[in-house]
Amino acid sequence: MSKEIDLDTQPAGKGLPWFLTLTGLLTIGGMIAMPFLAGEPDGEKMPDIVRFLGRFHPVILHLPIGIFSLILLQELLGMFSKEKPQRGILPIFFGAASAVAAVIAGFLLYQGGGFEGELVEDHLWGGLGFACAAVLTLIVKAWSLAPTASQAFYRILLFGSVGVMGYASHDGASITHGPDYLTEYAPNPIRKALGLEPKVEEKEIPAKPLEEQVVYADIVQPILNKRCVECHKEGKSKGKLRMDTFEMLVKGGKEGSAIEPGSAEDSNIVIRPELPMDDEEHMPPEGKKDIEEHELAIVKWWINEGADPAKKVGELKLTEEIRAAIGKLDLGIGASEVAVAEEVSDLPSDDLRATVSKLSADFPGGLSFESQSSANLTFTGVSLRKNLTDELFAKLSPVIPKMVTVDLSATSVTDASIAKLATATNLRMVRLSETGITDASMDTLAKLTKLESVNLYGTKVTDAGVKKLTALPNLKRLYLWQTAVTPEAIAEIKKALPAVEIVTGV
Ligand code: HEC
Repeated sequence: MSKEIDLDTQPAGKGLPWFLTLTGLLTIGGMIAMPFLAGEPDGEKMPDIVRFLGRFHPVILHLPIGIFSLILLQELLGMFSKEKPQRGILPIFFGAASAVAAVIAGFLLYQGGGFEGELVEDHLWGGLGFACAAVLTLIVKAWSLAPTASQAFYRILLFGSVGVMGYASHDGASITHGPDYLTEYAPNPIRKALGLEPKVEEKEIPAKPLEEQVVYADIVQPILNKRCVECHKEGKSKGKLRMDTFEMLVKGGKEGSAIEPGSAEDSNIVIRPELPMDDEEHMPPEGKKDIEEHELAIVKWWINEGADPAKKVGELKLTEEIRAAIGKLDLGIGASEVAVAEEVSDLPSDDLRATVSKLSADFPGGLSFESQSSANLTFTGVSLRKNLTDELFAKLSPVIPKMVTVDLSATSVTDASIAKLATATNLRMVRLSETGITDASMDTLAKLTKLESVNLYGTKVTDAGVKKLTALPNLKRLYLWQTAVTPEAIAEIKKALPAVEIVTGV
C-alpha cells in the first residue's frame, strides 16, 4: 500500500486524526491562554512588529469567512441532494488555519492599543470562540472521514462554528463601521421589522433659531462627530481619548484632559489640529480630511467662552466672525437663521434663473447651477473653444459674482476677461490652461480667497506672477505644467503654503 495520504478521499488510518487532534487541542489551548498571558494593551510599549502584523487582521479575516460560508453551502446542498456529500478535509483545514491566523493577527492589533470597551472584548472572545470551534470541527471531520462514518456530529459543529462566526463578524464590523452601519439608511418598513425606531424626515424638525442652539450639543459636537469621532469613540479610542461626549472630552486621553475651559490654546483638541501638517502628531492624521478653519474657529470660541456644555449661542459673546463660521457649517442648522446671506447658498431668485436661461443661448451647455438647490453657478467654455472671446465672456458679467467654478481652458480669453472675475468672490476653481493670460491676471486671482484650485498649465505666467498666489489661504492645487515658472519659485510657494499640491509634470 502506498504511504501517501490522499486527504480528499480516503482516511489514512488513525494517524491523521490523531495528529490533527493533538495539534488542534494544543492550538486551542494556546489561543485561550493568549489573552491571559499578555499584559494590558498599550500601543506605546509594543514593538513595531506587533503593530505591523496586527494590521493584517482585516485582510486575513475574510478568508475563514469565505471558506466556512462555502463549506456550509456545500454541506447544505449535500444534505438535500442524492449525491454523496463532500468528504474532503482540505477546505476545512484551510478554513480552520485561516481562522487561527485571523485571531492571532486580531489579538496583535488589539495589543497595539487603541481598541477598548465592551464591544471589543466581545469581539475578541467571539473571534476566539469561532477559531476554537473551527479547529474542533476540523478534528471531528478527521475522525469521520470514512465513507461510512456518521456526519451528524461534524454537521452540528460546522453549523455552530458558522453561527459563532456570524456573531463575531457582526461585532467586528460594528467596531470599524459603527453599530448601526447596515441599518442606518434602511427604509422604514425594514426598520420596523427589525424593531428599530422609524426615521423622521429631517425637514420635519423645525430648526431652532441660532440664539437658541446649545453651542456644545448642536454645533461643537457635530463638528467633532464629522472630523474626529471615527477614531475617538467607544471601542476605538485612539490615544485613549474619546470625543463622543462632553464627559469624555473632560476626562481626556493619555495626555490628560482634551479641553481647558477658557483657554483654547492649552486645549489638546485645538493644539493637535493646529500643528503643522507634516507633524506626526497633527490631527486628524495624514490621509483624513482636515478639520476646516471655520470649524476649528467655532471649537476655539466655545472653549474660550468657558466650554460650558449647556449654554446657548445667545448666552455667549457672538462675534461676526463666528456668526459667519456657523453659517458655513453643514450641520442641518437652519441656514436662514444664521443670517449670512452671501455665505450660504440660497435658492436662486427668479431673476437669476431668467438671466441664466437667457445667457444659455450664447453659451449652450456652458452655464449651469451647481445643484438643484443652489444659486451657485459653474461655467465652462470648453465647447466654445477659440470662439470664446473676451467680448463674448463679457456678456456673463451679471452672473460672475455667483460663479464657483470657471473653466476657460483653450479659449481665446485674455487678461481682460480675468479682470472681470474680480467679482467672483466665491470662486473655488479656475482653469486657464492654454490661454493667452499672463502675470497681469495674478493680481485678480490673488484676491479671490476662496480659490482652492488654479490651473495655469501652458500659459505665459512667470515666477513673479505665481508668487502672488501665496496670498490664497485655501489653495490646495496649483497646476504649472509647461510654464516658465522655475523650481526656485515653486520651492518658495511650497514654503509659504505647505499644504498645496503643485503639479509641474516633472
Ligand atoms: C483616522 C483616525 C483619527 C482621526 C480621524 C482623529 N484622530 Fe486623534 N488620534 C489618532 C491616533 C492614532 C492617536 C494616537 C497617536 C497620537 O497621540 O498622535 C490620536 C491622538 C489624539 C490626541 C491625543 C490624545 C492623548 O491624550 O494622548 C488628541 C488630542 C487628538 N487625537 C485629537 C483629535 C482631533 C481634535 C481630531 C479631529 C479634528 C482627531 N483627533 C481625529 C487618530 C485619529
